Amino acid sequence: ANPVVAVCGATGAVGQEFLKVLHDVNFPASEVRALASARSAGKEVPFEGCGLQKPGNLVVQEMTPESFQGVDIALFSAGASVSKQLREAVVAAGAVMIDNSSAFRMDEDVPLVVPEVNPEDVAWHNGVIANPNCSTIEMVVALKPLAEIAPIKRVVVSTYQAASGAGMPAMLEVQEQTRQYLANEPMKAEAFAHPLAFNCIPRIDVMLEDGSTKEEWKMVVETKKIMHAPEVGVSATCVRVPVIRCHGESLNVEFEAPVSVQAAYDAWKAAPMIEVMDDPAQDVYPMPGALAGTDPVYVGRVREDASVQNGLNFWLVMDQIRKGAALNAVQIAQLLLP
Ligand code: A2P
Repeated sequence: ANPVVAVCGATGAVGQEFLKVLHDVNFPASEVRALASARSAGKEVPFEGCGLQKPGNLVVQEMTPESFQGVDIALFSAGASVSKQLREAVVAAGAVMIDNSSAFRMDEDVPLVVPEVNPEDVAWHNGVIANPNCSTIEMVVALKPLAEIAPIKRVVVSTYQAASGAGMPAMLEVQEQTRQYLANEPMKAEAFAHPLAFNCIPRIDVMLEDGSTKEEWKMVVETKKIMHAPEVGVSATCVRVPVIRCHGESLNVEFEAPVSVQAAYDAWKAAPMIEVMDDPAQDVYPMPGALAGTDPVYVGRVREDASVQNGLNFWLVMDQIRKGAALNAVQIAQLLLP
C-alpha cells in the first residue's frame, strides 16, 4: 500500500522544501499531512501533489501525539526538542520518524544515513532514522568516492554556511539587515548574536568546553559514524556568511596513498549526486549565489596540496535546504519503500 506521509514542521524552511521534494520525486504517498505548531493550525501551505495526493493547498494541523495515527513516514524538521517530545508517539503509531534535527543522530540505536554513502544502515532502525547535519552531508558525499581510491587520513574543513541553516526567520533577517544597512539604519539581530549582513560569524551552535562549537563537533563525529571510519581525523571550523541558501566548504584532505586530480575527477564523475564544475581560468567554479534550488554537491578548485604527502584541496557548494536537509530525508524515505 502507498504510505501516508506526515511533514512535521511544514511551515518552516525545510518543511516547505519537504513538500517540494515529495512532488519532485513523485513520492508514492497515499496521503500527505502538513503539521506544525498551534500557531499555524488552519493556515494553508501550497502543494503540487505526489503519488495519490492530488495537487492543492494542504491545511496545516497542529502537531500533537495523536497526529500520527495511520502515518507510515514522518519527516521531521521542527527542532530537536519537538522531535524528542514526539518520538514515542510516532513510533507507537507504527510510523518511522526521519528526523532532521540533532536530537538522536549519535544515539547507538539510530542510523545516521546519507543514501550515497551508507544506505545499508537503514536496515537496522528501530523507528527512528536521523538525517545528518547539512555540512556533514555535503562533505561525506564528496569524500566517499575518494575514500574508495585511497583511505582518508585526515580532513581539514572550513565552512561558509548560509543563513538558511538557521531556518526561515534567519533567511528573512539577513535580507532585512541588508535593507537596514543600505538605509543607514541600525541593523536588528535576533536569529544570530550579531548582524549577519556584510559580516561573517565564526560561531555556529553552542560553544563546547574544548573551544570548538557544537556544529564543528557534529562534523567530526557524524562523519566517522556515516563513513564507518572512526580512524579518520576531522578538523572543522564553521562560519556563518551572509548567503541565503547554499553552504560552501573548503576542504584539505590527506590520503594514505596518492590521489591525483584526474583520479578524483573520474571518481566524482562516476558517483551519484556530485557534479564537477572546475574551469577556474574561465571563471567556472561552484558558487552559492548561482546554485540555490539545485540537488547535487558541486565540486571545483581541485588541486594537489604540495605542503603534505598525498594531499588534495577542493571547494564544495550544496543547497543546504535540498540535499543538506529535505532531499536527503526524502531519499531515506525512498529507501524504506517496499
Ligand atoms: P510554526 O510555523 O507553526 O512555528 P524553521 O526552522 O524554518 O524556523 O521552521 C520550524 C518549523 O517547526 C515550523 O514549521 C514551526 O511551525 C515548527 N514548530 C516549531 N515549534 C513547534 C512545536 N512546538 N510543535 C510543532 N511544530 C513546531
